[in-house]
Amino acid sequence: MALDPGEAIDPGEAIDPGEAIDPGEAIDPGEALRAALRAAAGHADAWLAGLAGRPVRPAHSAAEVLARLDGRLPAGPSDPVAVVDALVEAVGGGLTATGSPRFFGYVVGGTLPAALAADLLAVVWDQNAALASLSPAASAAETVAGRWVAELLGLPAGVSVGFTTGTQMAHVTALAAARQRVLADAGWDVAADGLTGAPPVRVLAGADRHATVDAALRLLGFGTRAIVEVASDRLGRMRPDALRAALATPDDRGDLAGPAQARSPGRRPTIVIAQAGEINTGAFDPLAEICALAHAHGAWVHVDGAFGLWAAVSASPARRALVAGAELADSWATDGHKWLNVPYDCGIALVADRAAHRRAMSASADYFVLDAAGQLDPVDWTPEFSRRARALAVYAALRSLGRAGLRDLVDRCCDLADHAATRLAALPGVTVLNATGDPAHPGPLVALNQVLLRMDDTDAAGSRGAAARGDQLTRQVTAAVTAGGEAYVTGTVWRGRAAMRLSVVNWATTRREIDRAIAAITAAIAAARPRGADPHPSGVPS
Ligand SMILES: Cc1ncc(COP(=O)(O)O)c(C=O)c1O
Repeated sequence: MALDPGEAIDPGEAIDPGEAIDPGEAIDPGEALRAALRAAAGHADAWLAGLAGRPVRPAHSAAEVLARLDGRLPAGPSDPVAVVDALVEAVGGGLTATGSPRFFGYVVGGTLPAALAADLLAVVWDQNAALASLSPAASAAETVAGRWVAELLGLPAGVSVGFTTGTQMAHVTALAAARQRVLADAGWDVAADGLTGAPPVRVLAGADRHATVDAALRLLGFGTRAIVEVASDRLGRMRPDALRAALATPDDRGDLAGPAQARSPGRRPTIVIAQAGEINTGAFDPLAEICALAHAHGAWVHVDGAFGLWAAVSASPARRALVAGAELADSWATDGHKWLNVPYDCGIALVADRAAHRRAMSASADYFVLDAAGQLDPVDWTPEFSRRARALAVYAALRSLGRAGLRDLVDRCCDLADHAATRLAALPGVTVLNATGDPAHPGPLVALNQVLLRMDDTDAAGSRGAAARGDQLTRQVTAAVTAGGEAYVTGTVWRGRAAMRLSVVNWATTRREIDRAIAAITAAIAAARPRGADPHPSGVPS
């Protein structure tokens, strides 16, 4: 895409006024839409043709794109094709190639071809997924895709499923169902009576939970002070002994309970939030043990498995063992836009207690037209009313991969992450912080698809300030790798010290892209070290 930074477009001026609409003339919307879509298809084709080769990072900053895009509100119409061209011209430099097989930042999947095409069709068809009568296609796709996802993840048959924007809203959905159930068990119908005067709900969550858990709890009116933080181990796994102690500790807020609590003495409404796949380390809470402990106290268990739940499809018994016990939980949140490689946005909330899920989410009105055969109305399972038919892409992804294809995708990503971890661990000063294996013994060094690295300056080892120097080096290398465009990696802080993360979740990533990332990291370390000491002048360590 040719980008001329010199000439900013003024959106206040009509680019090409096109033809004014004459209300006396019939419009063929299909014709108008096809012209715009053809223009978009040309740009899409150019983008995809260069996806594997282009620098992964964007060329322009957000401020630079804003300067190109901003301007006066247009006073009048412009031709749609001219608008599409102008938009691409203005924002093209601000696109990150997140679908590139060399994107390893955050946890961001690519796009499977069938999923991309299906999602595009969902937009072209402009389906409102709320009601089966309004979009029989969306209802059917959610029914089938939801069942397939539950089956692949090894969850109980009959779980209810809602397709959300992401794991964030899947948490909100599932935790609203949890709130409904635990309060109903204490004699309080939160759907009708709200939270004012309700028995306090205790929420126990691991110290290394994802930030979206806190956001969900805030949105649901619990407040983050309701969270009892349960200690985790060096990899971020919730410690069962700490959970046991927390569950047994009297909750001083329980004394504040109102009349409903008095009807159900001795049972404090409790939700335990566990994690399958910590974002930095990829580690799993011991789910079977957590579910047993929590259920013994009548608690609801919710699992944040944004990417980790997909380990259930692995051919490796060791990887499947990580997720063992997930099926015992009461609700789960995961993503389609991570390891399943469907386009943004797609999250999935699954709930074992259908009644609580529906009571927490559903809306009804006389003006809803209900399906005569009682087919699924998606509005009953997510917070939104109108929304996209995002299950079409999930259906297409699963249909194109099949069970074996998904298994291979997951295992390939894990093997490639392990390859990266093993090679990088061999560099002087580099530590793989989430290693669970031993390089001296056969078997993987990292358990899943995340690689958490730290770079220390070997020359500074043992000196005062060595840790701070390592922080600086790690941040410098992370920034340099991403700025170089060869690979996109992101930084984090782990146990108080700077770290770099690689997440391998793209269906198109192969050994080639991993080796390019390893070479870029190796070169960035050499460039960042004082005196330019390069332990591997030839690039990739063997
Ligand atoms: C463990 C975990 N939970 C939740 C999320 C949030 O997912 P989303 O961005 O789809 O809301 C992520 C994102 O990486 C994650 O890794």
